[in-house]
Amino acid sequence: PAPGWTTTADVVVVGSGVAGLTTALRVRAGGLRVLVVTKAMLDEGSTRWAQGGVAAALGEGDTPEQHLADTLVAGAGLCDEDAVRMLVTEGPGAVRRLIETGASFDTDAEGEILLTREGGHHRRRIAHAGGDATGAEISRALVEAVRDDEGIELIEHALVLDLLTDAEGRTAGLTLHVMGEGQRDGVGAVHARAVVLATGGLGQIYSATTNPAVSTGDGVALALRAGAEVADLEFVQFHPTVLWLGPDAEGQQPLISEAVRGEGAHLVDADGVRFMVGQHELAELAPRDVVAKGIIRRMAETGAEHMFLDGRHFGAQMWEERFPTILASCRSHGIDPVTDLIPISPAAHHASGGVRTDLRGHTSVSGLYACGEAACTGVHGANRLASNSLLEGLVFAERIAADIIERDRLGKLAPRHEDTTRPVEVVPLLAAESRAEIQHVMTRGVGVLRSAASMADAVERLAALAESEPETEKREPVQVETWEATNLHLVASALAAAALLREETRGCHWREDAPDRDDERWRRHLVTTLVDGTL
Ligand code: SIN
Repeated sequence: PAPGWTTTADVVVVGSGVAGLTTALRVRAGGLRVLVVTKAMLDEGSTRWAQGGVAAALGEGDTPEQHLADTLVAGAGLCDEDAVRMLVTEGPGAVRRLIETGASFDTDAEGEILLTREGGHHRRRIAHAGGDATGAEISRALVEAVRDDEGIELIEHALVLDLLTDAEGRTAGLTLHVMGEGQRDGVGAVHARAVVLATGGLGQIYSATTNPAVSTGDGVALALRAGAEVADLEFVQFHPTVLWLGPDAEGQQPLISEAVRGEGAHLVDADGVRFMVGQHELAELAPRDVVAKGIIRRMAETGAEHMFLDGRHFGAQMWEERFPTILASCRSHGIDPVTDLIPISPAAHHASGGVRTDLRGHTSVSGLYACGEAACTGVHGANRLASNSLLEGLVFAERIAADIIERDRLGKLAPRHEDTTRPVEVVPLLAAESRAEIQHVMTRGVGVLRSAASMADAVERLAALAESEPETEKREPVQVETWEATNLHLVASALAAAALLREETRGCHWREDAPDRDDERWRRHLVTTLVDGTL
């Protein structure tokens, strides 16, 4: 549809989690006009749900080198070492600047930041807030700062449709559908000199995920349609300890932070056996893929639908003070962690891959940046180290902002081409009802444990879904549900195809039929693009 309204900005930031809002604030500090667009409310993305915290070498005796070593081990041979080095070196400063922006972390009586442990970290390195409400505090502080800055325009309930490019293929803005009241209601266009995708994750391609309903891979889908490269999609991390609410539980599931294990809770089976002991030197605090696999294996061996987390020895006071969010969440489901074992199983949690960027957040399309979970910066490799994602959002947001400001200063930022911009080709939209089918196909075929047969079946079913009657022929095309289904389908198809290609087990890509890591053939990245509608 033709845009019903237009507006302009120097920079459009898409998404309002830690990556998007930090980018907006830092770009704004350089004097540029910033517009933040977000699909729901400002605080509705994944950031606010983060529990454990932000990993950074802040503690006495800790160093970026040690953080680097742990990150590289978790990443199973596919991290970009330069990117990780930058992340861990710039991380402590980025956390301090977040504190200056208004976020409060938990501190001891002397005002020193308290640090906890999580899987894959050899020492206490995770800064947290409100006990287990770190993301909520970060989101609160950033939303407040952004709302206080009159130079940042905000549009909520704005679904991004496609990128606008100029005749030279440079980013020139985007089209979006605003679902609110007022003059900007409906489909419109923003003409801008740079676009930053900070749209978060894609967990909603699976039936059960820790991600909120808005995490539908919109940034990756938009980037693919715009011709950008995406990478490492096959590495979806399954969080080991998600509250088990029954075999048919669907949608966003309650997370039980790894910090609970970091503070000493144990994983046990129905007989009370600590099955992770002996499987890895760090037992329950092994990297996340190792623990998720350990749980699934034990479930298969014992025929159980879930395992348990035992934190009863913490006592009521520790649960109340250190993990108030998790305590309340468990109790709301009839489980009291003070007296009960907590039933858990793994669920989709974090996309290690995404829109491929360099160390300044550039994608392969000029003027298009990607940041946070939507991006593949190279810091996660085949398996993200716990609590490195909020850090990635902070550090890369600062780098992207610095790059945009520098380019503007040097006259290298593209001018606005309001008369010559054109949207990328309109795609046929899928029916909203396809969402559940996509989730079932992906959960069955490309879930925590995969095989050639299961993935080939998923690829085939996804292709068949696209061949069914496109939604555009049936009703008004621009609806959130149809765009979300379309984005989920594109991202799921790209992910399933990449996963099928990778004939080995590495990090969080776990193949039943190829159980070993094969460095000779597969120590490399799979990069996906969309050319003439074909992946
Ligand atoms: C958690 O609190 O376990 C989540 C931390 C993360 O995903 O990095």
